[in-house]
Amino acid sequence: MTKIISFESSADETSVAIVEDGHIVLSNSVATQINSHQRFGGIVPEVASRHHIEWITRVLDDALSLAETKPEDLDAVAVTYGPGLVGSLLVGLMGAKTFALAHNLPIIPVNHLAGHIAAANFNAPIIYPALALMVSGGHTELVLMREENHFEVLGETRDDAAGESFDKVGRLLKLPYPAGKTIDDMAHRGQATIKFPTAMAHEDNYDFSFSGLKSAVINYVHHADQKGDTINQDDLATSFQNAVVDALIGRTRRALQNFPVRSFVLAGGVAANSQLRDELKILLEDFSQTAFIPVPLQYTGDNGAMIGAAGYWNFKQNIFADLDLNTDPGLDF
Ligand code: KG4
Ligand code: ZN
Repeated sequence: MTKIISFESSADETSVAIVEDGHIVLSNSVATQINSHQRFGGIVPEVASRHHIEWITRVLDDALSLAETKPEDLDAVAVTYGPGLVGSLLVGLMGAKTFALAHNLPIIPVNHLAGHIAAANFNAPIIYPALALMVSGGHTELVLMREENHFEVLGETRDDAAGESFDKVGRLLKLPYPAGKTIDDMAHRGQATIKFPTAMAHEDNYDFSFSGLKSAVINYVHHADQKGDTINQDDLATSFQNAVVDALIGRTRRALQNFPVRSFVLAGGVAANSQLRDELKILLEDFSQTAFIPVPLQYTGDNGAMIGAAGYWNFKQNIFADLDLNTDPGLDF
């Protein structure tokens, strides 16, 4: 049995978790700072770093006591070193290094994006080869994994990330940040009365683009404002969400057709979207050889447990770091 303690602080969640063998979550303590960023309509890096400093030792103590685990029971310390905000990443990295040094434990460097995908193992074991759709506030990627801990990016966004487009439309509609969940709820109540474009639907690749859709929504709202028309925000949410989900489904279908895989993983904050989950489930019915493994809802957003899951992949491959490990804010796969 391998017990890993894992630190995550790349954006606005401070989290420490203890995970056994990469898939049993013994504890997952998460402190969110969303309230502090809401009045600014987005994450303010300096505010985020200060929150991480304030919370890191509290979530660490919490994770250890919830798991009823002593430092001497642990095998390694995993930590997110990128991508993310440099000042935020540094806090988790310093916390992890200090803990590792104090308890003489090896350090495992973890890519936050791999962490999002590895969280699917909390649902069911990922079977390889696998395809993953990683949709978060900062990333939108279709990733092929021919084997565990091996990533080939088939396609990615050329501009805004999927979650970013939800948040930007939310800002336009004066919804609280982050707006993904609110728009998801509104979309259930509305009707798809507006036809927004699905970008690049006819291009033969796996890339995404959401800035054109965002501009179309902005133009629609400004045009209505100028004419003095009132907008049905629920209908706008439904129409916008349909366009985002259509784009994600279209690319995923093409990738599944061209790469026969044994499992399909849906990961990242936007993986909580109910319409996306429902439509992917229906899509996967056409691919009977492919198991659908969405990340469980409580692990779609940023959390320490997912870093412990990906950390275990590295642990098995002897991928460790020294105390001079640095952050890599622009890290990709
Ligand atoms: O993965 P995550 O927690 O943080 C990043 O690494 O970016 O993703 C956060 C993103 C935000 O943009 C948020 O609006 C979006 O996930 N999100 C959703 C939903 N819940 C969260 N987007 C659409 N529908 C949702 N239900
Ligand atoms: Zn994330």
